[in-house]
Amino acid sequence: MNRKPIFAANWKMNKGPSQTEDFVKSFLSKLQGQDFPCEIVIAPPFVSLAKLADLLHSATAGQNAHAIQIAAQNCSEHDSGAYTGEVSVLMLREFFTHYVILGHSERRSIYGETDAVINAKMKKALETNLKPIFCIGETLAEREGGKLESVLRTQVTEGLKDLTEKDLAETVIAYEPVWAIGTGVTATSQQAQDAHAFVRSLVAELYGADTASRIRIQYGGSVKPNNAAELMACPDIDGALIGGAALEPQSFLEIIRNGTGE
Ligand code: PGA
Repeated sequence: MNRKPIFAANWKMNKGPSQTEDFVKSFLSKLQGQDFPCEIVIAPPFVSLAKLADLLHSATAGQNAHAIQIAAQNCSEHDSGAYTGEVSVLMLREFFTHYVILGHSERRSIYGETDAVINAKMKKALETNLKPIFCIGETLAEREGGKLESVLRTQVTEGLKDLTEKDLAETVIAYEPVWAIGTGVTATSQQAQDAHAFVRSLVAELYGADTASRIRIQYGGSVKPNNAAELMACPDIDGALIGGAALEPQSFLEIIRNGTGE
C-alpha cells in the first residue's frame, strides 16, 4: 500500500498573525515551488488561521507553491450556542481548514479531555468533512508498567467508537508517546515502529485489513531534522506531527526533506 506521508507542524500556543506571516513567507521562499512527495500541513493557533489562509491562497495563485493544508489544533463537539471560548467546525471551515488535531496529549492531560469527548469531536469534525488527526500515546509510567498496548487499545477503541470505514478513510492517526513530546527524547525507531504496527493491527481488528493498510499513522514526539530519516524509513510510519522543530521554517523544511529523502 502506497501511503502518502503527511508532515504536520503543530505550533501549539505559538505565532500570532504577524509571526505566522514571517514564517510562511520564509518557508515558501525556501520551498521555491519544490513539490515534495508528501502532504505538508500547518496547524497555527485559531487567531492565525485567517492570516495563514490568506497567505497560502495568494501564494498558490501567484507561483507554483507546494499546496500546504491548514489544520486547527482543536474544535468543539457542539455546533453553536452557549459555549464560551469554543470554536465550531463550521467556523473552522470558513478558513479553508482541512484537518483538525484531536486528542493531543496536552488536551487530554491539561484540559481533561476524555476518550468520550474526543470521540464526540471526531464525529463532529467528520460530519463537516474536516479530517481528524487523531492523537494517541502512552505516558512513561504506562510504558514502564507494561501497559503500552492496553492504553493504545483503549484510546483507539474509544476514540474511534461508532466511526465507519468511510470515516477512517478521512482520518490520520498520530502516535505520540507522551514522554517524547517536547522533551528532546525521541522513541527509538524500533519502539516507534512496534507501536505503529500495533496501532495498525488494532485498526485491522476493528475495520479490516484494507482500511488498516490505507490509514496513515504519523509519529510525533521530538522529531528533528537529524532523526526524521530514520523514523520515516520504518514501514508503518507515514509522516510526522512536529511541535518545537516546526517553529523554524528551516528546520521544518529539513525534516520534510530528510523524511522524504528528497
Ligand atoms: P514536539 O511536539 O515535536 O515538540 O515533541 C510534538 C507534538 O506535541 O505534537
